[in-house]
Amino acid sequence: MADRDSGAEGLSRLAGEAGAGLGRRLGPGRGDATALTLLTPAHWRDYELVDSGDGAKLERFGPYLFARPEPQALWRPLLPVGAWEGADATFRAGGDEESGRWVYRRPIEQRWPMAYGDLRFWAQATPFRHLGVFPEQASHWDWTGELIGAAGGAPRVLNLFGYTGLASLAAAAAGAAVTHVDASKKAIAWARENQSLSGLEERPIRWIVDDALKFVRREARRGARYDGLILDPPKFGRGPQGEVWKLEESLGALLADCRAVLAERPLFVVLTAYAIRASALSLSHLLRETMAGWGGVVTAGEMTLAERSGGRQLSTAIFAAWSATASA
Ligand SMILES: C[S@@+](CC[C@H](N)C(=O)[O-])C[C@H]1O[C@@H](n2cnc3c(N)ncnc32)[C@H](O)[C@@H]1O
Repeated sequence: MADRDSGAEGLSRLAGEAGAGLGRRLGPGRGDATALTLLTPAHWRDYELVDSGDGAKLERFGPYLFARPEPQALWRPLLPVGAWEGADATFRAGGDEESGRWVYRRPIEQRWPMAYGDLRFWAQATPFRHLGVFPEQASHWDWTGELIGAAGGAPRVLNLFGYTGLASLAAAAAGAAVTHVDASKKAIAWARENQSLSGLEERPIRWIVDDALKFVRREARRGARYDGLILDPPKFGRGPQGEVWKLEESLGALLADCRAVLAERPLFVVLTAYAIRASALSLSHLLRETMAGWGGVVTAGEMTLAERSGGRQLSTAIFAAWSATASA
């Protein structure tokens, strides 16, 4: 697994559960239900977490600097106020988690190209405070890409809640035949533009506007099978027909249905969740339950970004990942 358990600083294993003893570091027990892993992408050039603190993060997306709210950043920023004031745009939060607006200090392009390795994609400041890419997800792109490449052939990968398509493109670039599902036509259109920008038009990707749960159930009835599953469900969402998605209520059912679309010998399942009250251990237990009977290994923990100013790791999401074999 790229960037996982490599022993490098910053990729720490968090000890502390039963039997581990206070502060004791657990050994390399990949798949050990009592150990959590931090995943930190190490290959970004176009993205950088510049500084963090006082409930905010200062980030560079390509040529532009953005300041956004970040509830995890309980500490103090290390850079002077002037650095933060140099942001091209700052997101001023509204009353709830998603609302608010961008305040621009200078005009920026409506959208601009960014790269991660050979992937190319459009970034854009959206009214929902996102910019079309979740940079911490790069750890998963690398990992799934390695597993797909190592498997050879054209493994079938299903990407649910696929957003602007970067996980799908990374999988397709590695040789997978991808089915990408998202409820939003706009997100799918953006993902297709990213496919063109990446020069991956010839790669087999099915772009599907549908409700994730309905789609999986339909695929199960049709007898479709996948070698890899990527799930990045939001805390709350809606399908194209207004179907309500509430992660805490719907995730168990979705994963139970996912069992029915898994190949006899699947390669991987990777699940990420943002801004929920559950721990990574909850995702881990759920995924172990889902994958019962397939053997393999579950790794779980936090997705983080390493800050340039002080090297602190900012946790942005939790994940659980299953793979048929421990190494990748
Ligand atoms: C932004 S991504 C996930 C990113 C990140 N995990 C987060 O929570 O902010 C969520 C994607 O799920 C899609 N989505 C929401 N509800 C859905 C549903 N019921 N079926 C399929 N896609 C859905 C949205 O259109 C969006 O593109």
